[in-house]
Amino acid sequence: MKTIDVHTGRPYPIHIGEGLLSHFIELFRQVYGQRRPKLAIITDDCVDSLPGAFGPDGGQPPVAFLLDALRQAGYETCKFTFPNGEASKNLQVVSDVYAFLSAHEITRSDVLIAFGGGVVGDLAGFAAATWLRGIDFIQIPTTLLAMVDSSVGGKTGVDIPQGKNLVGAFWQPSLVVCDTSMLRTLPASIVADGMAEVIKYGAILDAPLFDLLCAHAGEPGFLESPLFHTVIARCVELKRDVVEQDERDKGLRQILNFGHTFGHAIEKQSQYSIPHGEGVAIGMVMISRACEKAGLTPVGTAEKIAACCEAYSLPVETDYPLELLCRHALGDKKRAGSKITLVTLEQIGKAALYPVETGRLHAFMEGQHV
Ligand SMILES: NC(=O)c1ccc[n+]([C@@H]2O[C@H](COP(=O)([O-])OP(=O)(O)OC[C@H]3O[C@@H](n4cnc5c(N)ncnc54)[C@H](O)[C@@H]3O)[C@@H](O)[C@H]2O)c1
Ligand SMILES: [Zn+2]
Repeated sequence: MKTIDVHTGRPYPIHIGEGLLSHFIELFRQVYGQRRPKLAIITDDCVDSLPGAFGPDGGQPPVAFLLDALRQAGYETCKFTFPNGEASKNLQVVSDVYAFLSAHEITRSDVLIAFGGGVVGDLAGFAAATWLRGIDFIQIPTTLLAMVDSSVGGKTGVDIPQGKNLVGAFWQPSLVVCDTSMLRTLPASIVADGMAEVIKYGAILDAPLFDLLCAHAGEPGFLESPLFHTVIARCVELKRDVVEQDERDKGLRQILNFGHTFGHAIEKQSQYSIPHGEGVAIGMVMISRACEKAGLTPVGTAEKIAACCEAYSLPVETDYPLELLCRHALGDKKRAGSKITLVTLEQIGKAALYPVETGRLHAFMEGQHV
């Protein structure tokens, strides 16, 4: 097991390891001691019905296993399940969670457990941030993206009809338990989605990580190997380091948006039929190509990123017209005033922020130095 401490306003540990769910109660007690809060598990229907891999005979589904273990240890528990998928990440489901928390008399001294992917983490985290003006919550991330990205850093929130993630709160968990064995049931497309973020970390912050990912791409068993678990831990460390310096996303944290300006635009243009990771992969290549032409990024960088993404089954091209994507990009909430801040690479492993006049974005993307 690897433990990474996050020193934000409220510090917390992230534990990463194979089979950690079986050690949840020990890890919980390291934070809560002998306190016995009520524990409300929030999950989605897909995670709730994952096949059994836990318990004495190895046949118990993960959520049921955790509930049993907690009850046997004398904790009072309850569970709320909502339909899986981004479409559930909305205020109506948050409202249903509030009703559930009220019915189970969850008080400020009790704890929510977000058991699932990024959708569960964001939604349950937001419910925790707002229920009774804020109660503790624990993350048990079950997708690669949730392990390396959404469970680190304390951003919680939901989508509204006007856009994704427009309503939310910064709310740090009290504990993150990342059991890498949960990745075994993930469909390949969802693993690929998370890989886009993993490649992103290498590209913006860690050239040796990027090289390692390229070197092992396509290797059978790599994603289940202990080496890959160290990759997950490295990504968590990299995000932790950024978040510690910029908890509220006012500066440095923007580098985590590498590939996201056009990634989000592609997602939006596809009406979200193109998954986030695919959009980010295309977006990383697009911005790197433009930056190469502008002399901001060494020639060959975009091709290296493209080769790495493709090796992990991610697309790197889109047929959407640049004009349309620029329009979406400029509607993005990350735009500040008359400039849009792009994340560029000085080289692989070193990101930089590059503000461009909004009126010049299209020209910049076409390769003109602006
Ligand atoms: N808070 C942040 O900092 C942050 C960062 C990045 C992304 N996000 C958010 O994360 C969300 C995406 O997260 P995601 O990609 O984890 O999606 P997700 O939570 O929708 O999970 C993807 C699918 O996988 C299923 N699933 C989860 N764990 C599984 C497992 N172990 N085995 C099999 N199936 C499993 C889920 O039920 C779902 O159907 C988006 O809403 C995005 O906005 C948040
Ligand atoms: Zn992302």
